[in-house]
Amino acid sequence: MKKKKIIIILSIIILIVIIGILVFINFKKLKVNIENDVQIALNDKKYNTDYLKELKNGTVINNKELIDTSKIGTQKVKIIIKNFWGQKKDYFFQVNIYDDEKPQITFSKNLETEVGSEIDLLKDVTVKDNSNENIEVNIEGEYDFNKAGSYTLYYVAKDSSNNETKEEFTLTVTEKKNTTSNQNTSANNINNETTFTTSKGFNGVVKNGVTYIDGYLIVNKTYSLPSNYGSALTSQTTEAFAQMQAAALLEGIDLYISSGFRSYQRQNTLYNNYVARDGVNKADTFSARPGHSEHQSGLAFDVCSHNLDGKNACINSNFDNTPQAQWLAQNCYKYGFILRYPEGKTNETGYKYESWHFRYVGIDLATKLYNNGNWLTMEDYFGITSTY
Ligand code: DAL
Ligand code: ZN
Repeated sequence: MKKKKIIIILSIIILIVIIGILVFINFKKLKVNIENDVQIALNDKKYNTDYLKELKNGTVINNKELIDTSKIGTQKVKIIIKNFWGQKKDYFFQVNIYDDEKPQITFSKNLETEVGSEIDLLKDVTVKDNSNENIEVNIEGEYDFNKAGSYTLYYVAKDSSNNETKEEFTLTVTEKKNTTSNQNTSANNINNETTFTTSKGFNGVVKNGVTYIDGYLIVNKTYSLPSNYGSALTSQTTEAFAQMQAAALLEGIDLYISSGFRSYQRQNTLYNNYVARDGVNKADTFSARPGHSEHQSGLAFDVCSHNLDGKNACINSNFDNTPQAQWLAQNCYKYGFILRYPEGKTNETGYKYESWHFRYVGIDLATKLYNNGNWLTMEDYFGITSTY
C-alpha cells in the first residue's frame, strides 16, 4: 500500500517535470518575424535587420549587413539567426529596389540661329540620373529652321522607372541678314561684314557680331552682342555720367550708378533667376536675355540715389515719380544720355518703362530722342524692331 503511494507520487513528480521541461522548451522557442513587401529607394542606405520586426529567443549573426540598393529590381536579403540552443538558421526575404528620382537635364534656356542655319538642339544638353542609366533626351514642340520666330520647346528625359523631367527652352530663328564679304587682299585676313538698311533708311552694319546703325551700337531683343563682348562701362559713359552727377548735385539731386556693366554670364544668371521666379513671358518684359542686354555694351546703366528716404526705390517702379527720376528725364540728354525705355513705348522697345535705365548715345542723338520732353525710342527713330 505504501509502495503504491510512493509510485503515484513519483509519477506525479515526473509528469510535473516533463510538463515543466515542455513549457520551458516552448518558452524558449525562437520567434522570427520579418517585414514583407519591402520597398527601398535606389541607393538608399538600408540594413538587413532594418526589416526584422520581431525576434524572440535568438540573436542575429549578421547584424546590420548593408543591402545592395544600387540596382533597380528585386534583391534577396539574408538574416542568419542563432536560437537559444545555439542552432543557426538562414532566413531569406525579398526587397524591391525602386527609383523615384527624376533625371536632371543640363541645358541652355535660349538657343539662337539664323533662318536656314540648322543647329544641333541637343549639342550642349546633358542628362544625369541616380540610376546611372543612359537616358535619351527628346525634343517636344514644333519648330522650323526655315522660318523666323521664337519657338517654345521642351527637353524631355525619362528613366527606366518612368520618372520624367521636362524643361522648357526657347529657340529663336532670326531673319537672315545680307552678307557682303569685304575680303582683304591679305590672304589670311578675311573680314566678314553684314550690311543692311533699316525701314527708315538708316545704314546698318554688323561687325564681329555687333550691330551699328548710323554708327550707333544697337542692342535690343532683335540685335544681340557676342557673349565675349564688353568688360566695363566705356570711358565716354563714365565721364559723361560724372558731369551729369556733378550738375545734378548742384541742384540738390544725388545720383549714383547702381548697376553698370553686366557681362553675358552675369546677365544669364540674372535672367534665368527671373525666369525661374516669374516664367519666360513675364521675365522678357523687364529683363534682357543674355547677349541682349544693353548693360553688356558698356554704354548703359541703372541710376539710383542715396536720398530716397529709405524707400525701396532702387531699380524698380518706386523710382518713377521721384525728383531724381524727373530730373534725369528732363536733363540727361544734355550729357549725352537717353531714357532708353520710356513710358508707353513697350511696343517699340520690347520692355516696360524703366525710369532708371539710361544709355549713352552722345549729345546730338540724345537731343533728338529727347524730343522736347516727349522721348522717342531708338527703335522708332531708326526704324528697327525689338523682338525675339
Ligand atoms: N532691364 C533691361 C532691359 C536689361 O535687362 O538689360
Ligand atoms: Zn538697366
